[in-house]
Amino acid sequence: MTTSNKLLPVHKRFDLNFVKGSGVYLFDDKNEKYLDFTSGIAVNSLGHCHPKMVEAIANQAQKLWHVSNIFSNKELNNYAEKLIENTKIFDYVFFCNSGAEAVECVIKMIRRYFYTKQIAKHRIITFKGAFHGRTIATISASAKQKYLEGFEPALQGFDNVEFGNIDAVKNAINSQTAGILIEPIQGEEGIKVADKKFIQDLRKLCDENQLILAFDEVQCGNGRTGYLYAYEYYQVEPDIISTAKGIAGGFPLGGCLAKKEFGQAMTYGVHGTTYGGNPLAMAVANSVLEQITSDGFLQQVKINGEFFIKELNKIKDKFPNLIKEIRGLGYMIGVKINDKIEHAQIVKAFISQKFLTVPASDNVIRILPPLIANKENILEALDKIETSLNLFTANYNA
Ligand SMILES: Cc1ncc(COP(=O)(O)O)c(C=O)c1O
Repeated sequence: MTTSNKLLPVHKRFDLNFVKGSGVYLFDDKNEKYLDFTSGIAVNSLGHCHPKMVEAIANQAQKLWHVSNIFSNKELNNYAEKLIENTKIFDYVFFCNSGAEAVECVIKMIRRYFYTKQIAKHRIITFKGAFHGRTIATISASAKQKYLEGFEPALQGFDNVEFGNIDAVKNAINSQTAGILIEPIQGEEGIKVADKKFIQDLRKLCDENQLILAFDEVQCGNGRTGYLYAYEYYQVEPDIISTAKGIAGGFPLGGCLAKKEFGQAMTYGVHGTTYGGNPLAMAVANSVLEQITSDGFLQQVKINGEFFIKELNKIKDKFPNLIKEIRGLGYMIGVKINDKIEHAQIVKAFISQKFLTVPASDNVIRILPPLIANKENILEALDKIETSLNLFTANYNA
């Protein structure tokens, strides 16, 4: 099936048309079965059509789909309480519908906090390579020319510095600096994992300079790294985070979580949304949270992720001309392809073996298995990767 020309042509699509999903597999319109290690770009945390999610949405669909935020609803209250309890460090959550909206809320909260304190600080330090979404504010925060081109003037108030360089951060702080917004593991940029020390130093800098520390955990949150949120891995408490993608396993949902002091700045009428906190989204998100916080679930992601990365390194050693580096944490893995070969060619080679991955920047292929993927699924992936690379090498040298 060809893609409709009625769609705004902003996406480049592979010639694959999926009609069904089950667990770690997707099935196309020819009923071919693919091992899906894209998870809809870190979204399908419980794989496709997980029975608990299907049950949750089916039950909720018969009771209540939507009520305005001028009323309350049980699903919203229950899920908010449960999410906050599981994060252990936050006091407030605002629900929205996407990652970009969640980051928008972070930006607004940082500005609003200092406004309520009557302190003239509004600038936010952000990092090169970060991706925060496609709204005007979030492309301005990322400051990547590729995303800004044709959409300028950008929103003012961001100072974009080198990722991982603490001196660059120190130099960028001035009397108007309000906070630091960081994507601690850069996903779109090719799975760049910030050093623990760098993130811990950011926390110290924020404390010393009365700055707000915000993490964009849209991609690395919700169990992707083997931790519910990546700040646990860094052993650092951010003041605010954005979340989305895997939070409701495929039902659109985003969130901004904040510590009390900062959340309190967002008083009645200063922000809002029509759909955010919709009972359908809440019911599904609740079923996802129950699974990923169940006994041993995230521990398994950590163990399997380590095994996967170790085995991928063995494959790298067998194909030194193709693979330059394996990087990542948990089920957020990047395979850096030799710059002489375009990574899309390797992604296509994987597709020919019915294995799905995601191209990222820096000639990196992202491997993002559903969090339910077990060791057997990983062995299947490793087998498909090795077969694809053998075939690719044979054809490339032919
Ligand atoms: C770290 C990060 N932040 C924000 C976003 C934007 O999320 P959305 O596409 O849901 O607006 C993304 C999406 O890839 C992301 O990876």
